[in-house]
Amino acid sequence: MIIREIGQEDLAPVVAIEEHQMEDGWSGGMLAPELAMAGSICLLAEENGQVIGYIFCRCVAGEAEVLRLGVVGSHRRQGIGDRLLAAALQRLDRHGAVACFLEVRRSNAGARRLYGGHGFVDVGLRRHYYRSPVEDGLIMCRR
Ligand SMILES: CC(C)(COP(=O)(O)OP(=O)(O)OC[C@H]1O[C@@H](n2cnc3c(N)ncnc32)[C@H](O)[C@@H]1OP(=O)(O)O)[C@@H](O)C(=O)NCCC(=O)NCCS
Repeated sequence: MIIREIGQEDLAPVVAIEEHQMEDGWSGGMLAPELAMAGSICLLAEENGQVIGYIFCRCVAGEAEVLRLGVVGSHRRQGIGDRLLAAALQRLDRHGAVACFLEVRRSNAGARRLYGGHGFVDVGLRRHYYRSPVEDGLIMCRR
């Protein structure tokens, strides 16, 4: 498995995973501008030429945000999410990020545990932030 930067040519498989395997998936129209944005850190995990995971982050004026993190269903609990997050955080640190924020569904215990293992703590709550199903969003931050 390798981790590398996402190019525009990698977007189609990422969008397909977002559409078919993720709750609240982002469209190509939402993801494409992220790749071009200054301060963006977008990485994918690849195995045998197949995209098996990805992370989209951005860093503006020292403040970073994890926008998307996903691993395909068949490859979960193999440490891929962990490696993607670690690789992105390392790059964000180098980029001068002093704080990194993200939002996660309250019920998403697995993701919350993963983030907690990387120093993220709960800092806020957005009531009914998510749709289908409606659910609170937890804001987590790593400093
Ligand atoms: C969340 C997600 C990215 C985790 O990716 P992953 O590759 O399966 O995670 P890892 O194998 O690297 O897990 C690292 C650690 O996180 C925690 N963790 C991850 N998934 C978990 C789960 N389903 N239940 C409990 N703990 C979990 C564990 O502590 C795990 O370590 P362990 O396996 O040694 O116990 C993946 O489940 C996913 O794509 N989910 C759907 C999208 C999503 O929820 N994204 C985050 C939204 S903010």
